Amino acid sequence: MLVVALDTSTDMLACAVAAWTPGRDGARADVELLASRDHLCRRRANVELVGTVQTALEDAGKHVSDVDAFLVGRGPGSFTGVRIGISTAKGLARGANVALQGASTLDACAWTAWRAGVRGLVGVAGDAMRGEIYPALYAVEDEGPRRLFERERVVKAAAAVEEWADRADRGELQLTGDGLVRYGRLFEEAGLMARALSRELWWPSGEGLLLAAAGTGIGGGVEAGDPALVLPIYTRLSDAEENERKRLGLAQSAASEVTGVADELAGRHLQLRPMGSADVEAAAALDDACFADANHAPWSAQLFLSELSDDVAAPRSWWVAHDNGQIVGLAGGMVVDTDVQILDVAVAPERRREGIARKLLSHVSYDAQMLGCTSASLEVEAGNEGAIALYEALGFERCGLRRGYYGPGADACVMVAQLPLVLPVDAASPEPTAAAARTWPLSAPARTPEERERIAARELVLAIESSCDETAVAVIDADGALLANQVSTQIDFHARFGGVVPEIASRKHVEVMVGVVDAALEEAAASLGLADPIAPSELACVGVTQGPGLVGALVVGVAFAKGFAFAAQKPLVAVNHLEGHLFANKLTTPDLEPPFIFTLVSGGHTMLVHVRAWGDYEVLGETLDDAVGEAFDKVAKALGLGYPGGPIISRLAETGDPKAIDFPRALNSRGDYRFSLSGLKTAVTLYIENEAKAGRALHLPDLAASFEAAVFDVQYKKAKNALRETGAKEYCIGGGVAANPHLRRMMIEKLSRQGIRVTVPPTNACTDNAAMIAVVARERYLRDEFAELDIDADPNMTL
Ligand code: KG4
Ligand code: ZN
Repeated sequence: MLVVALDTSTDMLACAVAAWTPGRDGARADVELLASRDHLCRRRANVELVGTVQTALEDAGKHVSDVDAFLVGRGPGSFTGVRIGISTAKGLARGANVALQGASTLDACAWTAWRAGVRGLVGVAGDAMRGEIYPALYAVEDEGPRRLFERERVVKAAAAVEEWADRADRGELQLTGDGLVRYGRLFEEAGLMARALSRELWWPSGEGLLLAAAGTGIGGGVEAGDPALVLPIYTRLSDAEENERKRLGLAQSAASEVTGVADELAGRHLQLRPMGSADVEAAAALDDACFADANHAPWSAQLFLSELSDDVAAPRSWWVAHDNGQIVGLAGGMVVDTDVQILDVAVAPERRREGIARKLLSHVSYDAQMLGCTSASLEVEAGNEGAIALYEALGFERCGLRRGYYGPGADACVMVAQLPLVLPVDAASPEPTAAAARTWPLSAPARTPEERERIAARELVLAIESSCDETAVAVIDADGALLANQVSTQIDFHARFGGVVPEIASRKHVEVMVGVVDAALEEAAASLGLADPIAPSELACVGVTQGPGLVGALVVGVAFAKGFAFAAQKPLVAVNHLEGHLFANKLTTPDLEPPFIFTLVSGGHTMLVHVRAWGDYEVLGETLDDAVGEAFDKVAKALGLGYPGGPIISRLAETGDPKAIDFPRALNSRGDYRFSLSGLKTAVTLYIENEAKAGRALHLPDLAASFEAAVFDVQYKKAKNALRETGAKEYCIGGGVAANPHLRRMMIEKLSRQGIRVTVPPTNACTDNAAMIAVVARERYLRDEFAELDIDADPNMTL
């Protein structure tokens, strides 16, 4: 087998090509190094990685189509570095339809030392930044390094120094790892540097990674390996999660009360939230309905309440799903060391098969991960095949039977899963194929020659969007027909933080990217009446959002797309996300032609643009402070309405009076195209405070409608003025806020009356999506405007 190994978890861009002979009967594989291109490359991994893979393959006299498997370093290491490596590797393996295997970067360091002839006690100190390191001890023997630890962890550098300095065998300890660059002095002061390895060994090598994977201890060999299943090694949480962990540790949910707000929003949509003490009666009733016929007793309200109390011995996580204010599902777990024991899962019988249990379990297990768990376990009645199948789809495996657990003759099946679980994608969009269940690589699609011709004639463009908190993939054809449009939203994961947490966003992109691509390739095939999913080799081109957006989120899409395009041997197109919001209008009005005026209102941008020609954008004005979407989100947060604020406020506004409260309209003079929203936000906050002081209840619909009116009046007036001033006869709008029905209606009605043709994108193409990216990618593809494989994410791109 031809195997390509890559690792960008550290400043070393490790890359090697090897001939790999699998070992028989669990023996180590034989690795013959054919080429190696390891080199230090600080902060340029995304620029250089795919090119380096290509060069290494050339050195070995091979082509990417010869590769049988990719191998990637899963860290731990620099978060962005690990993500670039893993995302690129996922793209490579998915694009070439070959296996992807992961291995620990720390193990790769130990094997790099072994390869250099080092034997004895070796301490790898990986740099974890922020004053921390990943300490890992190995007994390096002739057969190879043996781990003296169970799982990777992160500690303060000083703590690691102390730990190792206290060892009786400290005199034999040979240090290595890139943490020595920054913290070498600390180790030196403790007298531990005397036997440090020479500096060129401090980073992992491609060969070291190959040797680490060749053992039986790590993974199952490179023959297996669905790229959807390879994840970074997690050792630390983001600050937001760390705070959330504390909150969960205190079990504050018991004190939280359901506000009156929930009633006004009831019936709007299915939502998940942590269980509160006000939920326990409903939870007990649901449990009763679910387990009336079961062999075990349902949970009582009292029992649920005790779970939520402050003095539980072990941390708990309980979640409910509600619709119409009614609890339709619940799940909870208890943390015992590094295992979360799932205590109860119940979904209302009439709401089964909607993926509610999967979503609930993913939240409980995510909390558990935040609390340091690496596995989840549960008991299920041995005869309950439906539940067992559900758990298996989430990655649980049967590992034992407890005879008579639920009473005489009623056995419990014990199941265990590694975390993270195989996560579901949002119920609003079809779930991607359960990666755990499929054989990999996929078999080549069965096609007749006519079908092959038909696909080629369509010139399919696949587009990827990952700039914020939606992982989205779409497929469009050369005529502009949208064949697939998949969005996996992470909103549930950010909602409890009241906004997008960049670290969680980029982590989630890595977790779901392959699944969303798979779903899009399946949907595209279905749209064409084909049974087998579109293969990467059947595409014409790959497009990806390059910026602007969250850098950690963008790099995942860009790295994946580059790997995917290179492996599938397809050209790459880079897309500006803002242009995507503009081009979404072409989905509604294909003959839209400049010159026209365009309003961009999203979570990050507020702009009034004179589009003189395609690609020739005159930005007439931007916001001086908050973006419009941001203002919606902040107002919703101030009202305790949850995240994102836009949809919630617009639903409330449906029944409100826009004239009820007179909020200020900023920078409202003619000729001024700038926007300012922070004053309005302050006015709303003050209003809320004053009403509370006066003891008056808020009329939320009036408040929402009045807030909207203040925002949209300004938008309308400035657009109208810009149309007058430029003489343009066309107007269009884009961005998440353009999904707002009141804004859409207002622009269409008022501007049409003045003889302006108004276009609004389809509602689902306003909030972040890949269809709009696909529209831009298609145009660029038709004009041969391709990107090189050394592009990087550009978080600050403008129009
Ligand atoms: O374009 P988008 O999905 O992401 C960015 O590129 O920023 O915009 C997201 C923003 C969020 O602030 C959200 O609150 C807002 O769009 N939004 C809305 C509505 N739906 C989403 N704002 C007002 N009314 C809506 N119906
Ligand atoms: Zn956007």
